[in-house]
Amino acid sequence: MSTWLVTGGAGYIGAHVIRALQAAGMQPVVIDDLSHGLAHRVPEGVPHVRARIQDRAALATAIREHGVTGVIHLAALKAAGESVEKPLEYFTENVGGMIDLLEVMKAEGVRNLVYSSSAAVYGTPAENPVREDAPLVPENPYGETKVVGEWLARDCGAAWDLSWVALRYFNVAGAGSDDLGDNSVNNLIPMVFAALDEGRRPQIFGDDYPTPDGTCIRDYIHVVDLAEAHVAAARLCEDGQAADVFNVGRGQGSSVREVMDVISGVIGTDVNAEVAPRRPGDPPATFAATDAIRERLDWSSSRGLEDMVSSAWRAHTLER
Ligand SMILES: NC(=O)c1ccc[n+]([C@@H]2O[C@H](COP(=O)([O-])OP(=O)(O)OC[C@H]3O[C@@H](n4cnc5c(N)ncnc54)[C@H](O)[C@@H]3O)[C@@H](O)[C@H]2O)c1
Repeated sequence: MSTWLVTGGAGYIGAHVIRALQAAGMQPVVIDDLSHGLAHRVPEGVPHVRARIQDRAALATAIREHGVTGVIHLAALKAAGESVEKPLEYFTENVGGMIDLLEVMKAEGVRNLVYSSSAAVYGTPAENPVREDAPLVPENPYGETKVVGEWLARDCGAAWDLSWVALRYFNVAGAGSDDLGDNSVNNLIPMVFAALDEGRRPQIFGDDYPTPDGTCIRDYIHVVDLAEAHVAAARLCEDGQAADVFNVGRGQGSSVREVMDVISGVIGTDVNAEVAPRRPGDPPATFAATDAIRERLDWSSSRGLEDMVSSAWRAHTLER
C-alpha cells in the first residue's frame, strides 16, 4: 500500500486530501504544527505528527516510522495581501520549508511529491482561459514563493529521481462535510459570511472592470474535487517519472456578482452587497484551461458553485 505524508493535513484543503486518499485506499499520515490548522480535522486513526516541517528530525522520523512513499506538500502561509507586508516570513516559511522537506525526502529515499501551487503564479493573465505554459508573472511575494516551489520540484526532479506534480489551484471553496469548512477569511465566500456575521454589508471591490457585469471573474473549484485531483496526481507520480504542472479549476469563470447572487439564494436573503473601490492587484478575470489535467490525469470537476456555497454555508453555521 502507498503511504502519503500530507504536510498541512490539519488545514482546510489538507483535511479533504486526507479523506480523498482514504477513499482511494491510500494511507495518509499528517505533519502539521497547528499554526493555522485544527486538530479535529485529522480523522481518528490517521497518525498526526505535531511538528513544523522545518524540524528535519521530526520529518525524517515520521517518514521512517510510517513507511512514507510520497509527500503531498500543502503546509504554507497563504495570504497574498499579508505576504506584501511580510515577504521575508513568506519566503522563509514557504521556500525554506520546502527546501527542508526536499532535503529530508532525498535523504530518506522518498521519490514522489505532489506540490500545492496556485493560480497566483500567473498574476494577471494576458489570456483566459489561462494555460499552464502561460508566462509566470506573480504579483505578490506569496505567488513568487509558489513559483520558486515549482522550480525546486522541477530542479530536484532533474537532479535526482524525484517524480513530481505541481497543482495550481484556482479559487477553492466549499466543504466536504459540515465540520470541514474554510475558517480563514481570505476568499470571497468566507469573506461574505464574515461580513454577514458582523452585520456589515459584503463588499464588491470594483464594478467597473471590463467584464460583462463589471465585477471580477474567478474560477471557483469545490474543495472535494480539488482533493480528488491530488489522488490522481499521486497516482501519476507513482506510475513513473512525472514532471507535470496542472491547473485545477472548473475552466469556467463566475463573477463576484454571480457569487453574491448564489449566496443570497442559498441563505434565503439578499446579501445586499455594496460596491467599494477596486483593490490594487486584482486581475479583472482569471479562469483555468483544464485540457491538460483532463487528458493526463483523467480528472475534471463535478461540483458546481451552488454546491460550494451551500456546503460552505452549512459548515459556517455549524461553526458559529
Ligand atoms: N485555500 C485556497 O484557496 C488556496 C488556493 C491556492 C493555493 N492554496 C495552497 O494550498 C495549501 C493549503 O491551503 P489551505 O487553504 O488548506 O491553508 P490552511 O492554512 O488551512 O492549511 C495550511 C496548514 O499547514 C499548516 N502549516 C503551516 N506552516 C507549517 C509548517 N511550517 N509546518 C507544519 N505545518 C504547517 C497549518 O497549521 C495549516 O493546518 C497552501 O500551500 C496554499 O498556499 C490554497
